[in-house]
Amino acid sequence: MITIKNQSDVIYFILETDNNSYIFETTKSGLLLHDYFGAKITIDNFESIKQKLDNGRGTAVLYENNKDEFIDSLDLETSFIGVGDYREHQISLVSQISGYTNNFKYLGYDILEKGSLGDKEFNPSSYEEDNILRLDLFDEVLNCKMEMYYKVFESSNIISKYIRIINKSENKYQLIRAFSNQIDFKDNDFIMMTFDGSWSNERQVKEQKLTSGIYINDSKCGSSSNKHNPFVILKKENTTEEFGKCYGFNLVYSGNHKTTVEVKSDNKVRLLQGINDFCFNYDLNPNEEFCTPEAIISFSKNGLNGLSQNMHDFINNHIVRGEWKKKERPTLINNWEATYFNFDEAKLLNLARASKSKGIELFVLDDGWFGNRNDDTSSLGDYYINKKKLPLGLKHLCDKINKLGMMFGLWVEPEMISENSSLYKLHPDWTVKVEGRKPSIGRNQMLLDLTNPDVRKYLIDSLSEVFSSCNLSYVKWDYNRSMSDMYSKTLKNQGEFFHRYITGLYEVFKEITSRFPHILFEGCASGGARFDLGILCFFPQIWTSDDTDYLERIYIQTGTSYGYPLSTMGCHVSDVPNHQTLRTTSINSRYNISIFGVLGYELNIPNLTRLEKNEIKTQVQLYKKHRYTLQYGKFYRSNKTIYNNNNTYFWCVNESTNEVVLGFFQSLVHPNQKEDVVYMYGLKDGNYSFETNVERLNLKNFGGLINMVSPIKLRLNGPLHNFICKVYKLNSENDSQIVSSSTLREAGIRLKGQFLGTGFNNNVRVLGDFGSRVYLLKLIK
Ligand code: DGJ
Repeated sequence: MITIKNQSDVIYFILETDNNSYIFETTKSGLLLHDYFGAKITIDNFESIKQKLDNGRGTAVLYENNKDEFIDSLDLETSFIGVGDYREHQISLVSQISGYTNNFKYLGYDILEKGSLGDKEFNPSSYEEDNILRLDLFDEVLNCKMEMYYKVFESSNIISKYIRIINKSENKYQLIRAFSNQIDFKDNDFIMMTFDGSWSNERQVKEQKLTSGIYINDSKCGSSSNKHNPFVILKKENTTEEFGKCYGFNLVYSGNHKTTVEVKSDNKVRLLQGINDFCFNYDLNPNEEFCTPEAIISFSKNGLNGLSQNMHDFINNHIVRGEWKKKERPTLINNWEATYFNFDEAKLLNLARASKSKGIELFVLDDGWFGNRNDDTSSLGDYYINKKKLPLGLKHLCDKINKLGMMFGLWVEPEMISENSSLYKLHPDWTVKVEGRKPSIGRNQMLLDLTNPDVRKYLIDSLSEVFSSCNLSYVKWDYNRSMSDMYSKTLKNQGEFFHRYITGLYEVFKEITSRFPHILFEGCASGGARFDLGILCFFPQIWTSDDTDYLERIYIQTGTSYGYPLSTMGCHVSDVPNHQTLRTTSINSRYNISIFGVLGYELNIPNLTRLEKNEIKTQVQLYKKHRYTLQYGKFYRSNKTIYNNNNTYFWCVNESTNEVVLGFFQSLVHPNQKEDVVYMYGLKDGNYSFETNVERLNLKNFGGLINMVSPIKLRLNGPLHNFICKVYKLNSENDSQIVSSSTLREAGIRLKGQFLGTGFNNNVRVLGDFGSRVYLLKLIK
């Protein structure tokens, strides 16, 4: 809801979501003062807000008395250089007539009809907002208009913000900074959480306590990057997953982003977020305008879980769109780690048949099906079939897969070009590089210049041809290097390169996804190096990380879950020893962590033992039964996460709160530690059945202890021992009980004691190193 109140020359703007309020006001001199952002407050009398919110704001009064120097101490809604505010600022328009000084003053506002923004916003952006507010500001010297937009999403508790700058003058300006969002906070007792990483190690939770200084979270890679995800949290010191105040900020953008948090010694904190101003310099000629991408902001007083749930709800309902919105995502088998580049049709069909028999629904053919691509040194750009591997063509393979009753999916990496390719021979000038310089190479490849309209047209045409050549249901769109040698002959101003690459990319995404609306697209970038809201506007899911190791995935998926819902995270069960860490973990644990996301398999199923194959069949069945809850349910992290504890748990609750899936995950076993007690909330008042998803344990894990129970003495690893372990598995404990939601919330539920050298029966939970369990809870009527 948006309420506007006029009170003695001052206008108050009150934006409300179900749980939050966001309030700012105008001053007589056309300044916008930020009053409040946080939990909902009731305002019945506007004199009293003024008093409550302005208390202690003597500086505002001094400012109004024309003592401009006090602007540096005000909480402002937007900021510029050269007007006495010496903090980091939101906008910088450089001109010959005014230097770096800008001063946009409030002119008026408009409440717009929902859904009416159309091309008045950056593409892509969120949709189906509840309310829109536009503020108009004007700089009389520059003769430029600035529009500030606010979209309110009530039930997701999200407000989005962006700006448009319109040059109404005859002059040529340069925009060197255009951030989407500014929030000035009164207090500075924050911990900043960022989600940092590298290849195979994406979105690791990092926390730093803010003291005076300037903190930056950004990307200069050209993409949103695996180094620093655009999602940022500011939380109060005592905030946990369950309780306490926190703010979340994200950006609907896949390019270079930047968040700065400036903490002044007078307690003031200013957060700014938007396109990174690194190598950014945009021409604003007469009558031209620039629109920033949307910043997404939220607040929760119910801890980090509350904040994540706001973000998840918003992404599932207002970012992800098209035929796959809120739709159960298929289980898939991907041939990458099963075959790498070494495959033929028979091998692929063998893998598909084995997968189909386990209930897997989609077969994905990864890298290596085109040109002469037998390793990563060639052929990017040549998307015609590799006749040596697939002499009968793509359609033949796809038809065969479809005949098995599976959907067919394909990998492409359209934004890249290999020097060793026919495309490069034909169009070396389409490559991103600087004449006279040897370009930097990443994974032996270079970028195609998406700022060039000819390249975009070529991509749209050639991809359309491939995508319509067979009955394709899924596309994995990969992107395996960062940008270097940023230069395009087609640009007049090279300071526009990074941004124009991204707008060019979005143009291609938009055209391709609207030509192929039924295709499920999965974004990918050397694993999860482009996991952002811009991608999610076109591609409903993203490959989370190339690292599929059980333990690493607990860290990566926990980190990712702060800002992104489980429906967007591709999670695969892969082989052991794991191809990234060489760690060996059970097939159960690899599955247990992968179900907290969109489940897939990426290993050579035909090579597995009979027991492992049966296991996969049971796994897929269970996942399908609970997948709506796992992909779209409310997701909760325990207060102890893997970042601060040896074990952790997550749970997902379906919309009607009658079904819950709980996963308990251990890193290393430490005997005789405290009991494992699980506290769960978010459930309905009443009783729930609590059941272990019983697992089959490998007898080998018990080593020589097998001889304590074996009627005949077994030689360890001898043929008989090996045979028994191959054909016989022990059932894990079964923790089955009825428990009330209040017990789960207040007292917690003690999981059965872990193995302690005491023997094994139904009361002993054998987890060991990297062990885990899944539990299913159902409301009892
Ligand atoms: C990087 C991706 O993250 C992998 O899953 C795989 O598709 C390879 N690229 C293929 O080259």
